[in-house]
Amino acid sequence: MPQPSPARIVVLVSGSGTNLQALLDACAEPSYGARVVAVGADRDGIEGLARADRAGVPTFVSQLSDYTSREHWDRALADKVAAFEPDLVVSAGFMKLVSADFLERFLTLNTHPALCPAFPGMHGPRDALEHGVKVTGATLFVVDAGVDTGPIVAQVPVEVAEDDDVASLHERIKVAERAMLVDTVGRIAREGISVEGRRVRIGGPDR
Ligand code: GRF
Repeated sequence: MPQPSPARIVVLVSGSGTNLQALLDACAEPSYGARVVAVGADRDGIEGLARADRAGVPTFVSQLSDYTSREHWDRALADKVAAFEPDLVVSAGFMKLVSADFLERFLTLNTHPALCPAFPGMHGPRDALEHGVKVTGATLFVVDAGVDTGPIVAQVPVEVAEDDDVASLHERIKVAERAMLVDTVGRIAREGISVEGRRVRIGGPDR
């Protein structure tokens, strides 16, 4: 029996790429249903790109400073992504916002280290700690025009410990975040996803 071909995923990274690594490891198992076909970054020399190289996955870099405007950078990034014909783009620690045009071309998910809509932006773990919440976590969402505002696909809670600092809290969030990302992307690859307004369903509207 021919198997359905695995969903094609392009992952965008800016740093250490541990979320990427979790996806690469999961994709090594054929029953996972997805394949990372390329990894893109907004800077060179990062561990995320090295992880892709080690896995034999093609990489590309689009650095903002190499372009005359943000629009040109964004279009070039989108064209590089498009060359790999992704079913899904996963922004995993990618520290740039992309345009509405980019988002129209690709269904793009982002993972954020807080329970949206709380603590959006660059410092989710720090802001949660400073606010004194007892529970924070991670959110996987469909990227829209805002900052960490898109329709929520999955969330995972993480308790804040009394002696946490930003680093220890973020590390614990990342453990939960990686598991959530792998589980959710796999389910999307195998069952599909539907987005109606702010409601996201994995498996489509009929399930
Ligand atoms: C993750 O916590 C992600 O949510 C945040 O940056 C971190 C990236 O970690 N935006 P890594 O590069 O996947 O290790």
